[in-house]
Amino acid sequence: MKKRIAIFASGTGTNALNIIRYFKTSSTGEVVLVLSNKRHAKVLEKAECEDIKSLYFDKASLYESGKVLDLLENYEIDLIVLAGFLLKFPDHIIKEFPRKVINIHPALLPKYGGKGMYGRYVHEAVIANGEEESGITIHFVNSEYDEGTIIFQASIPVLPQDSPESLASRIHKLEYKHFPKVIENLLTSD
Ligand code: GRF
Repeated sequence: MKKRIAIFASGTGTNALNIIRYFKTSSTGEVVLVLSNKRHAKVLEKAECEDIKSLYFDKASLYESGKVLDLLENYEIDLIVLAGFLLKFPDHIIKEFPRKVINIHPALLPKYGGKGMYGRYVHEAVIANGEEESGITIHFVNSEYDEGTIIFQASIPVLPQDSPESLASRIHKLEYKHFPKVIENLLTSD
């Protein structure tokens, strides 16, 4: 039976779309739910266009009422994927999904992680510090931002002429290439 994936995202959702499409032809898993804390996030439109159930939730549903957890249980979710999800993921859900919540970060953790380190802030810091390489990190989610066990990393050189935008764009390509496969490997090794 295919494993059931839920994606959490706060923004554009290009990774979410890439994962949705990848799993349309996979026998291992399928994306059945896309959730966002932003009512008008582009990711929700993208998921709808792909005929994937997509829902907005508020902070109370995530942290207090247990509604988001109920939803994940009702949808019989096997793996939770955070792809550009900007809120802290709640401990009570992590507890119910041990080693079943993963995140992608657009840098080589443990560097350039933690609260406030997202999107262009990450790439700006990498360039400002003169790093010679950057990359992506896929990791399990624990109660601290970007500190869970690392599952996979891939790197690319930072070029002398790189701007935060150009670096972000190449890092996105790296994400599209690896993230679905890492998810598939996780699902098969389960
Ligand atoms: C990605 O760079 C990811 O690493 C980070 O947030 C970004 C999301 O981009 N966590 P998108 O919404 O998938 O385009």
